[in-house]
Amino acid sequence: MTVDEVRNHFIHELDEVGDLESLNNLKVKYLGKKGHITELNALIKTMPNEEKKEFGQKVNSLREEFLSLYEEKKIKFEEQILNEKLEKETIDISLPATKITVGAPNILEKLIEEVEELLISMGYDVVDGPEIEEDKYNFEMLNIPKGHPARDAQDTFYLEGEEILLRSQTSPVQVRTMLKNKGEVPIRMICPGKTYRRDDDDATHSHQFMQIEGLVVDKDISLSDLKGTIDVIVKKLFGQDVETRFRPSYYQFTEPSVEVDISCFNCKGDGCPICKHSGWITIAGAGIVHPNVLKMGGYDPKVWSGFAFGFGAERMAMLKYDINDIRVFYNTDLRESRVFDRKEAEQID
Ligand code: DAH
Repeated sequence: MTVDEVRNHFIHELDEVGDLESLNNLKVKYLGKKGHITELNALIKTMPNEEKKEFGQKVNSLREEFLSLYEEKKIKFEEQILNEKLEKETIDISLPATKITVGAPNILEKLIEEVEELLISMGYDVVDGPEIEEDKYNFEMLNIPKGHPARDAQDTFYLEGEEILLRSQTSPVQVRTMLKNKGEVPIRMICPGKTYRRDDDDATHSHQFMQIEGLVVDKDISLSDLKGTIDVIVKKLFGQDVETRFRPSYYQFTEPSVEVDISCFNCKGDGCPICKHSGWITIAGAGIVHPNVLKMGGYDPKVWSGFAFGFGAERMAMLKYDINDIRVFYNTDLRESRVFDRKEAEQID
């Protein structure tokens, strides 16, 4: 074949070729050992010298033309193969994803944090005390000596003899805080924490529960300071239109002592099952710190005075989130946290 014939052939054949394999075969057909272009090249040797140069150049440019057309085709086929592969291996992102259950914050913790945040903004410290407590702090230094009938209502778990127990209230932290401050500086503290009693568990009793204790010791502290403080807490938790009422009560470590009632946030005083149709709900115990307690805590009652309060954390959460069984907090049933979640969501709406 002449140079022109070879050229016509491969232009036609390259045009027709459909895949990488036949393209490579074509390369062998033209440039292999016995390929058409290779054969043309071999002819050069046999030619008279004056024709060699021109013919050689022709064959050379023919070879270059073939190679450049071949490369062009090769890139096209490779791209095609890659695209087909990518298409085959794409991930179908329209498939529904596996559902991951999202937890909800523990509502007791949430309530406690809400109270803490408020009282910190009012200058209070949040303090901690041991759950394994001494009889001395849990009872005696709170004006409840051995044999006092008030101990009956706070029977608890004893760990070693009669002196080491699981605290039945957070009030011992009052004593510990006073002793730590050595009768010298004013105190403003709250202590949220776990408490224990030997109660049989039912809808309103749990052998483990939480209290939020508060203590203020300063000069000229009065019952109205207590009422104002409680009122701020109550309004924050239950709404601005909720009112606070004090009823006379009795605690050994406060004198006078009060029961703190709030006006029913549900029926606004008309009477409903939440307030047992009285229009009021009892929410805490409180009072003016008893002089004996101040004295035992190292504070001179002639100089210092104070108020204290103790909220039941579960009781507040039960009221706030409309829960009718305290065991919900301790039975680790995950469905319960979803229920509270929904309540929250409704409130946010
Ligand atoms: N510790 C009391 C209880 O568990 C609650 C209480 C009442 C705490 C009056 C106080 C207080 O600080 O002043 O029943």
